[in-house]
Amino acid sequence: MNSDVTRDHYDRLAASYDENWAYSLQFVEWMTGCILRRLSISGGELVADIGCGTGLYAHGLAQRAAAVVCVEPSAAMPARVPREDRLLPVEASAEDLAAGRTVLPHDGYDAMLLKEVLHHVGNQGPVIAGLARLLKPGGRMLVTMLPSRIGYPLFAAALKLFEQRQPNPAAIADAMRGAGLCAELSYDSFPLSFPAERYLQMVRNRYMSLLASFDDAALEAGVAEIRRAHRGERIEFTDTFAFVLGTRP
Ligand SMILES: C[S@@+](CC[C@H](N)C(=O)[O-])C[C@H]1O[C@@H](n2cnc3c(N)ncnc32)[C@H](O)[C@@H]1O
Repeated sequence: MNSDVTRDHYDRLAASYDENWAYSLQFVEWMTGCILRRLSISGGELVADIGCGTGLYAHGLAQRAAAVVCVEPSAAMPARVPREDRLLPVEASAEDLAAGRTVLPHDGYDAMLLKEVLHHVGNQGPVIAGLARLLKPGGRMLVTMLPSRIGYPLFAAALKLFEQRQPNPAAIADAMRGAGLCAELSYDSFPLSFPAERYLQMVRNRYMSLLASFDDAALEAGVAEIRRAHRGERIEFTDTFAFVLGTRP
C-alpha cells in the first residue's frame, strides 16, 4: 500500500482497532510482556513507540519508562491514545524521523519499539539506519512483526498476498547489523480462540491492513472460503511473532 492508502486505512480502522485486538486482555498482556522482557526498560529511560497506533503497547511501556514518545502518521489513531503525562504524541512517520524531517523532543532514546509497522515502510534499510542514530549508546530497537508465513485462518488469496508483501525478519536483523547494531532474532507464540462469527467480522472489518486490498465482493467470497474450512463454532490458531532486537554498542 502507498502511504496515503495506508493512512486512510488506519484512519478508518482507528475506531474499531482496539475492539479487534483488545478482544483479549491476555493477548495484550502477553505481547506487552514479550516486549518489556526484550527491551529491558529500567526506570527513568526514554522510549519511542513508532507507529504506536492507539497506544495499546505504549501504555505498558509507560509503566516502566520516564516518557514514551508515541509517533504515528495517522491522525485518527493517536487521537485514541490514552491521555497520560508520560505519553507524548507526535504526528510523523518512521521515514520522517529517519530523514530528520521531524525531530523528536529528546536528544537520544534508550529504547524504541516498532510493532507491526515495518511492512508499511518502503525503504527499510535506510529507515532502520536513520532510526538507529536516534538511540543512545546501549539503546535498544525492537521490531515486532509477523513471520514471513502465517497460519492465520484467512482465504488463499490473502495468504498469498501476505507472503508477497511481508518483509523477512532475518533481513531486518541484517539491516540492523548494517546500521551498526548487534541484532538477534527470536520468536514467541500465543494460542488464539474466537467465536467464529467474531473472527469473520474482524475479517470483514479488514482488521489486517492487507485485507484493504480486497473489495467487498472479494472479501465476502473470502469469508465464505474461511467458513467452508472452519465449520465449528470457534476458530482457533496459533499467533507467532518474530522479535528482532538490535542493540547499539
Ligand atoms: C498494525 S498497526 C500497529 C499499531 C501498534 N504498533 C500496535 O501494535 O497496536 C500499524 C501502524 O503503523 C502505522 N504506520 C503506517 N505507516 C507508517 C510509517 N511509514 N511510519 C510509522 N508508522 C506507520 C499505522 O498508522 C498503524 O498505526
